[in-house]
Amino acid sequence: MQKRKLGNGLEVSALGLGCMGMTHSFPPFPEKKDMIEFLHKAVDHGVTFFDTAEVYGPYTNEELVGEGLAPFRKDVVIATKFGFVIGNTLPGLSGVDSRPQHIREVCEASLKRLKTDYIDLLYQHRVDPAVPIEDVAGTVKDLIKEGKVRHFGMSEASAQTIRRAHAVQPVTAVQSEYSLFWRKPEEDILPTLEELGIGFVPFSPLGRGFLTGKIDDKTKFENGDFRNVLPRFTEEARKANQVVVDMVTRFAEKKHATPAQIALAWLLAQKPWIVPIPGTRKLERLEENIGAAALELTADDLREIREASEQIKVLGGRYPEAMEKMTNL
Ligand SMILES: NC(=O)c1ccc[n+]([C@@H]2O[C@H](COP(=O)([O-])OP(=O)(O)OC[C@H]3O[C@@H](n4cnc5c(N)ncnc54)[C@H](OP(=O)(O)O)[C@@H]3O)[C@@H](O)[C@H]2O)c1
Repeated sequence: MQKRKLGNGLEVSALGLGCMGMTHSFPPFPEKKDMIEFLHKAVDHGVTFFDTAEVYGPYTNEELVGEGLAPFRKDVVIATKFGFVIGNTLPGLSGVDSRPQHIREVCEASLKRLKTDYIDLLYQHRVDPAVPIEDVAGTVKDLIKEGKVRHFGMSEASAQTIRRAHAVQPVTAVQSEYSLFWRKPEEDILPTLEELGIGFVPFSPLGRGFLTGKIDDKTKFENGDFRNVLPRFTEEARKANQVVVDMVTRFAEKKHATPAQIALAWLLAQKPWIVPIPGTRKLERLEENIGAAALELTADDLREIREASEQIKVLGGRYPEAMEKMTNL
C-alpha cells in the first residue's frame, strides 16, 4: 500500500486499521487468538498504522493490539488515546480526565498493556474543559522528551484548541469523525490543519458501517452495540438515510468498485495528508477496504459526489446529546 505523511513526518500506510470493534462497540467480539492472527494478516497486507485506545474494552483492546503487533513492533505505528474516565457507562458518559498526573498514569499503563517502551502517537481522546490545553500539551511534550511518546494527537477538538495546543507541542495528527455521512470537519478543522501542517485521521470513515450498504432499516444490532444509542441509527433514521447509501452505491457501480471503496477513496482524495482508519475484523473486508487506496477518483467524479452529497440532509445526530457536547471544545 502507498504511504502518507502525518504532520511533521510520521509515515503511515494510506489506510490504517481501526481496532476498536475487536473488543468494543460492535459485539459479538471475535476470539482474541483470531484477532491476533488478523492483525498479522493486516501487517502482511501492508497496513502499518493501528488505532486503539485505553477506553476500548476498556483496556483489552490495547492488550490485544500490543500482543498482536509485538513481532512487528519496529515496522508499525501504534496510536492510542487517553482522557476518558473509565466507568461502567458508554465511553464519554463517565466524563473526561486530562489532568497531567492522570495522563502520566494512563501513559505508563498503556505502555505496559501495549508491551512496548514507546507509543508512536498519543491522542487526547476528548478535550477536558477543566484542564488548560497548554497543560495537556506540556505533559505530552515531557513524555516525548522522556522517549515514552513520539507524536502528539488530538481527537474531536475545536480549531481554536488545536491551535493553542500546537503552539506548545506540535500536533502530528487530529482524529475526528469524517465521511460522506459527517462532513463538518470541512468547515474549520481541515483549513486549520492545512495551515498548521497537521495530519488528519478520519474515524468512522464508513459511517460505522452504514456507508458500506450492509446495514438498512431491517438490521438488528446486538444488545450492547453502540449503534443502538446513536440517533442516526434509529430505524427511522436508517430508512431516511438510505439515500446516502444509494448515492454511494451509484458511484460504486460507475467505478466498478464497492460502496466501502468509494467512501474511503473519496476521503483519500480530499487531501494527501488524510489517513482514514476503517475498522473491520474480517479479512475479506480488510482487503476490500485496502483496495480503495488504488481507486482513482477523477476531478469530475469528486465534483459529482460532492454535489450529490450536498443535496442530502442526513437524519439524526451522530452522537447522543451528552456525548456530542464533549466534542468541538
Ligand atoms: N477518536 C474517537 O473518538 C473514535 C470514535 C470512533 C472510532 N474511532 C476509531 O476509528 C475506527 C473506525 O471507526 P468505526 O469502527 O467507528 O467505524 P467504521 O470504520 O466507519 O465502520 C466499522 C463498521 O463497518 C463494518 N465494515 C468495515 N468494513 C466493511 C466492509 N468493507 N463492508 C461491510 N462492512 C464493513 C465493520 O464490521 P466488521 O468489523 O464486522 O467488518 C464495523 O461494523 C475505530 O476502530 C476506532 O479505532 C475513534
